[in-house]
Amino acid sequence: MTLTLATAGESHGPALVAILSGLPAGLVLEKAAIDADLRRRQEGYGRSPRQRIESDEVEVLAGLRHGRTLGTPLALVVRNRDHTNWAWGMSPWPPEGEPSGKGTKPVTLPRPGHADYAGTLKYGLADARDALERASARHTAVFVAAGSVAKALLRAIGIEVEGAVVDEEDLQGRVDEARAERDTVGGVVEVRGRGVPPGLGSYATKDDRLDARLAAALMGIQAVKGVEIGDGFALAALRGSQAHDELLPGLVRETNRAGGIEAGVSNGEEIVVRAAMKPLPTLMRPLRSVDLESGEPGEALVERSDVAAVEALAVVAEAAVALELARAARDKFGGDALEDFVASWRAYVERIPWDPR
Ligand SMILES: Cc1cc2nc3c(=O)[nH]c(=O)nc-3n(C[C@H](O)[C@H](O)[C@H](O)COP(=O)(O)O)c2cc1C
Repeated sequence: MTLTLATAGESHGPALVAILSGLPAGLVLEKAAIDADLRRRQEGYGRSPRQRIESDEVEVLAGLRHGRTLGTPLALVVRNRDHTNWAWGMSPWPPEGEPSGKGTKPVTLPRPGHADYAGTLKYGLADARDALERASARHTAVFVAAGSVAKALLRAIGIEVEGAVVDEEDLQGRVDEARAERDTVGGVVEVRGRGVPPGLGSYATKDDRLDARLAAALMGIQAVKGVEIGDGFALAALRGSQAHDELLPGLVRETNRAGGIEAGVSNGEEIVVRAAMKPLPTLMRPLRSVDLESGEPGEALVERSDVAAVEALAVVAEAAVALELARAARDKFGGDALEDFVASWRAYVERIPWDPR
């Protein structure tokens, strides 16, 4: 029994869609809790005015009855309210009537750092909008909704996942400065998983490794350019005697430099992972580019955009980690009914010498 997620949706299309398969039956979901996570993703200093247009809300089309999962695929939808302004430009079918609203002119000046150039070449497009609409991080909204469901599942076995921006003393100042100079910023986020028992993931194959899965999940988020598990890159400069987490009587450890994972398997300590976000590629003072139609030099596309999205990334990264931990937990504990899943987890944690931490 494994958990799989499929998503679809363009930034200014009608809606964002996710299908989460492999949940047990009987998990209670609360719309308010999912909507609260959607709101958290929209907040944060430096987000674009789009967040005032969108007020994201989850709809469930399948897999849930009276607030309980049925053990069947869960279909989630988040509508793009902004689509009304793009109804012609982003019409799924050939649009009728005269062009109106946004997205009516082809984008031919690719933004360095975005999908515009590579996507246009790869898919043979005349309009980079066909690439950038899906590449945009807007669809992280429905991903966060799926992550919220994963968190509900993890809570049933005592696991809490939380993301936050790292050591940011003056994010607002940094954003204000960048905004004044019509520039953008990035940042670093950290996600912690508490109550994760030893034994999630495996060293059996590289695809089973929990660290590999977490890294892939985090690198799968737009603008993430680096991931570290525990002390990550800093470990490279240390001696072995300084780098590893000694086991002390009572099977406790005084340090957690490994970030809760050894040999691709959770070791019972807190899971600690970090992701580095590059500065966002849409600049109000555009970078140099070349018109793909005429070959003439020009300035890259400018459109409504965030100055920073690092606080939003903390929420998206939290969802990514929750989904991977939930997947690893489904792989290990199985069960068609939630109570089977929980009973399997309970029997396991009673067998091993481990206290939740
Ligand atoms: C939550 C979130 C919000 C983002 N908002 C923007 C944005 O407003 N403008 C922008 O240019 N890039 C934004 N990005 C980043 C781009 O989507 C990303 O840089 C682009 O798709 C290219 O992919 P890459 O950076 O992974 O190479 C955002 C990313 C995230 C995770």
